[in-house]
Amino acid sequence: MKLIFLGPPGAGKGTQALGVSSKLAVPHISTGDMLRAAVRNQTATGLAAKAYMDKGQLVPDEVLIDMVRERLSMDDCAAGYLLDGFPRTVEQAEALEQISAPDMVVNISVPDVKLLERLAGRRVCGKCQGTFHISKLADEEVCPVCKGELIHREDDKPETITRRLKVYHEQTAPLIGYYSAKGKLKTVDGDNRPEDVLKNILASLE
Ligand code: AP5
Ligand code: MG
Repeated sequence: MKLIFLGPPGAGKGTQALGVSSKLAVPHISTGDMLRAAVRNQTATGLAAKAYMDKGQLVPDEVLIDMVRERLSMDDCAAGYLLDGFPRTVEQAEALEQISAPDMVVNISVPDVKLLERLAGRRVCGKCQGTFHISKLADEEVCPVCKGELIHREDDKPETITRRLKVYHEQTAPLIGYYSAKGKLKTVDGDNRPEDVLKNILASLE
């Protein structure tokens, strides 16, 4: 299956992708994770993307479209994909139609006030990539699963979070109408316990 997770920053796309990609046996492809790896490795893409990401702005479409085209041409995508964070503009969605059109789009919906709280308290493991919230952590610096170091993302500062939400509403939310018009959209309430959100996503795919 070729699946897209659509949703604002903090909706739980990364959190839910783990369970859904293993259930569907397709690779989880997060463009945010790919860009952060490129920044860490100081590749040309990473160097070009960093300033946009730090400001909470979108990285230019052509950079993302080339990156995703290359990733989707890899062997592990033969049975499909779970895209998390792409497409984020109508231009990216149009490009994806040409590269490898999705079968379904799950829109994870959460009110903005909840998103702010989730993102400000998020910690991500640098080793296993697990995602946590400080309210559930005994130690804010150590991963409870693999003991790796927990990272506070550069763009999870309050002023950057506000910018990311604005960018989402202006540039990405129009994709809800775009995919709805194609009859491919399912909306799931993301403002529930993570295990219930997972159950509802899997049910929406049946
Ligand atoms: P990206 O990494 O994609 O960030 P994002 O879309 O802003 O989404 P997040 O990763 O912040 O949120 P999420 O939905 O994955 O939530 P999570 O599961 O972590 O992109 C980063 C940047 O890269 C962009 O700003 C842009 O610059 C660039 N970029 C990436 N793709 C691009 C593209 N296609 N085009 C252009 N630029 C691009 O959960 C968040 C928190 O909530 C965690 O603490 C978690 O524990 C908690 N949580 C999760 N689920 C629940 C629940 N059900 N109840 C309570 N808490 C929960
Ligand atoms: Mg994410």
